[in-house]
Amino acid sequence: MSKIRANSIPALEFQLDPPPLSLSELYHENTKLYPLTVQQMMPSGNFSAADLQAMSRAYKQYPSLPRVKLPPIESLPQNGRTFDEVISSRRSVRDFADLELDLDELSQILHQSYGITGELPGKGGFRQDLRSAPSAGALYPAEIYIAVRKVAGVEPGIYHYNVPHHEIELLIPGDPTEKILEVCCGQEYVRQTSIVVLISGVLARTKLKYGERGYRYALLDIGHLGQNLYLSCASLELAVMTTCGFFDDEANKLLRIDGVDEAVMYVAFIGKRRA
Ligand SMILES: Cc1cc2nc3c(=O)[nH]c(=O)nc-3n(C[C@H](O)[C@H](O)[C@H](O)COP(=O)(O)O)c2cc1C
Repeated sequence: MSKIRANSIPALEFQLDPPPLSLSELYHENTKLYPLTVQQMMPSGNFSAADLQAMSRAYKQYPSLPRVKLPPIESLPQNGRTFDEVISSRRSVRDFADLELDLDELSQILHQSYGITGELPGKGGFRQDLRSAPSAGALYPAEIYIAVRKVAGVEPGIYHYNVPHHEIELLIPGDPTEKILEVCCGQEYVRQTSIVVLISGVLARTKLKYGERGYRYALLDIGHLGQNLYLSCASLELAVMTTCGFFDDEANKLLRIDGVDEAVMYVAFIGKRRA
C-alpha cells in the first residue's frame, strides 16, 4: 500500500491508495447529526447558562497596544439607500482607485459586519451581546484584522478590531502592502486597495460547545459576516472583492496566530471604486 507523497502538503501524506480518501467527505460524514449522536456531537449539556454567556463574550482584545477609536455609529451620516438598492447593487468589484477611505467608512464597515447591535438579558443578571451577523449559539468565533494602507487619519499598519470598544488596535506598524502581497499570492489588487480585511476563526470558541461539528458552524458564521461586509461596502458604494487566494500559514504567521486554535479563513480587498 503506497502513500501519496506531497512534500509541501503534510495533511495529504497519510492518504492511502487505494482507496483515496476525500478529507471533506470524511469530515462531512463524521460530523452529521443523528438522533443517537446528538449528545456526543454537541456536548453543550456540560455548560451552565453562565458559562455559555461568558463564552459568547470571549472577545479578543490587546489592551497594551496603541489604538484608534472609531467614530460611534450614532454619529455616522445616513446615506438613505434602501435595502433593495443595496442588495441589487452588491457585486465583487475589482477596480480599486488607490485612494483613502474615511474613518467613518471603516467604522461603518466594521460595525455593520460584526459589531454589537443588541443584547439579550440572561438569568442571574448576565447580559449577552448580540451582533450584526448570526452565530451558532451566539459564540461569535470570528476575529477581524485590518491591514490599513490608506485610511484618513490612521497610520498604515495591521490592526485588530476590538469589538466591545469599537476601536482598532495596532498589531504591526508600517505599510503592510508587501506583506499582504506575499500572503495573497502576489495579487496586484493589493496595491490599489485602501484596506485588506483578514477574518480568522477562533475555532475552539465554537468547538467547545459543538464538538467537531462546530467547525462547520464557524465557517457558516464567517460566511454570514462576509456577506455583511459586502453589503456594507455596497451601501457605501465602495469596491470589495473577497479572495480564496491566500497562503494560510503566511497569513497566520503575519497575524501571530497559531493556525490551529485560531486560523485565517477569509480575506477581502476594499477600497474606493475607480470612476
Ligand atoms: C469564497 C469566495 C472566494 C472568492 N475568491 C475570489 C478570488 O480569488 N478572485 C476573484 O476575483 N473573485 C473571487 N470571488 C468572487 C466571485 O468570483 C464572485 O462572487 C462571483 O463571480 C459572483 O460575482 P458577484 O460577487 O459580483 O455577484 C470569491 C467569492 C467567494 C464567495
